[in-house]
Amino acid sequence: MTLSCHDLVSIADLTDGDISALLETAASFKDISLRQIKKVPTLRGRTVINLFLEPSTRTRTSFEIAGKRLSADVVNISGAGSALAKGECLKDTAKTIEAMSVDAVVLRHWSSGAAYKLAQYVQPPVINAGDGSHEHPTQALLDLLTIKDSLGDVAGAKVTIVGDISHSRVARSLIVLLTRLEAKVTVVAPPMFLPAGIERLGCTVSYSLDDHIEGSDVLYLLRIQKERQGAKIYSELAEYTRIYGLTKERWARVSPTCKIMHPGPMNRGVEIDPDVADSLGSLINTQVTNGVAVRMAVLYLLIGGAGGSEE
Ligand code: CP
Repeated sequence: MTLSCHDLVSIADLTDGDISALLETAASFKDISLRQIKKVPTLRGRTVINLFLEPSTRTRTSFEIAGKRLSADVVNISGAGSALAKGECLKDTAKTIEAMSVDAVVLRHWSSGAAYKLAQYVQPPVINAGDGSHEHPTQALLDLLTIKDSLGDVAGAKVTIVGDISHSRVARSLIVLLTRLEAKVTVVAPPMFLPAGIERLGCTVSYSLDDHIEGSDVLYLLRIQKERQGAKIYSELAEYTRIYGLTKERWARVSPTCKIMHPGPMNRGVEIDPDVADSLGSLINTQVTNGVAVRMAVLYLLIGGAGGSEE
């Protein structure tokens, strides 16, 4: 079994069959992380480069763990520790990596479109681990797995995504993926955090979180991305919290079956109350756990799924 695409840059690269295969494979890989010996030989002899040119904890670590649990050799490159810090361009870094016979490159980059460019420069598959405000497809896939495991069915589920939509690659990938699977997705934000035309992705738009507190099956909170705001940062974070934060007062009104999600990193006390983040209805740590299984599935189906692990 392999994916139909050569690279995973965008959710649009995946067919419905690819999405099903990824979820099934991830589900089967979950068990490996629960064993005492958390390793199988599936990708033995394969080399995966983690090229992370923007900060990351969850995505970088989980790709590294995913590769290692499948016995791939994983090499981490960061911007500060590489020749990029001396002025080398992405293309030359990419060609240098390619010349070392690697099997996949995982890229986190601050610039929207960087993963697409990298895929043009190199032959091995490129996996987008988040590029600027564009896409973060593996985050959307792990969120889909988390929602499916929790709710059973995604079709018809009312998912409310709250926060800085305009800077969120997570939101963009997740809206596309969930609406394709017939979830009812609403984005809630002040106008300054809503990109023009976001409805074209298939979601509806609201300016009032209070209108969606009671009826949501999933409340998905997004971080206020202070580093991407420039001069536009919401004037007072306390004011943002008052109108758009999942406070204890709002939490008291949600359905007991409603699930709370956040891709991390969180601004505790800004978009989400710390006690709500740690509550029983929170799937935030489950998202992280599922991230390893989903990234194992992505690596396996891109570089090892067609009998690639033979001697
Ligand atoms: N969700 C996510 O991308 O987190 P990191 O920035 O820690 O990888």
